[in-house]
Amino acid sequence: MATATTARSPAPANGCSPATPHRGPELVDALPFSLSCENNKQPILDVLARVFADRREVLEIASGTGQHATWFAQQLPHLRWRPTEMPDNLATLLPRCNHYAGDNLAPPTVLDVSARPWPPQVPHALFSANSLHIMPWASVEDLFAELSERAEADTVLAVYGPFNYGGEYTSESNARFDQWLAARSPFSAIRDFEKVDALAQAAGFELAQDNAMPANNRLLVWRKPA
Ligand SMILES: C[S@@+](CC[C@H](N)C(=O)[O-])C[C@H]1O[C@@H](n2cnc3c(N)ncnc32)[C@H](O)[C@@H]1O
Repeated sequence: MATATTARSPAPANGCSPATPHRGPELVDALPFSLSCENNKQPILDVLARVFADRREVLEIASGTGQHATWFAQQLPHLRWRPTEMPDNLATLLPRCNHYAGDNLAPPTVLDVSARPWPPQVPHALFSANSLHIMPWASVEDLFAELSERAEADTVLAVYGPFNYGGEYTSESNARFDQWLAARSPFSAIRDFEKVDALAQAAGFELAQDNAMPANNRLLVWRKPA
């Protein structure tokens, strides 16, 4: 996820540069900033505008800097957007959300997908970006186990990030990114689409869309049949 138009470059590609202040052209913006979020937010919005067109509320898992949450809340005013983060990263998420002027962004709350049962009520739409390759595989399993029990019929789940297919990287840049992830944490890795889809199926979801995104990412959309 280096940029929306270029190949993935290892260091900034994880989207986790929350402490980096953004220096805009006109003012120094001290809010936590991720360049990859800035680059991918419009392509993601183009898909979410369609798949969340008939939704009312979205629970976002692993909201990071809040750039996605505030952008999607602003651009999709029919939605109430509910950002969440791990306890230790809530302080990164809060400033940008506190800065948001609209009334359709819920106060950020803590959500560790492995701390089950989840505290929040689960709405009929969920979104997460660049999180499944960061959290341990056991947490990916926990996420879908929770959704198996808590997500009601007609729930839509949209997940953005890099995925492998047929056990293969989809690009050289993703292969380099996976090496970078492994050096950073033994628990992080680009996930196999087939394994994640198997978890989703076991949780009662059906794959509705697999959208190709810039910089060798995917936006996967599952739906629990009504
Ligand atoms: C690469 S950042 C992505 C942040 C943001 N969604 C983005 O696209 O920039 C990965 C995020 O996953 C979160 N995360 C890691 N483990 C998690 C877990 N068990 N439950 C919820 N979030 C988790 C981290 O706190 C971090 O914010």
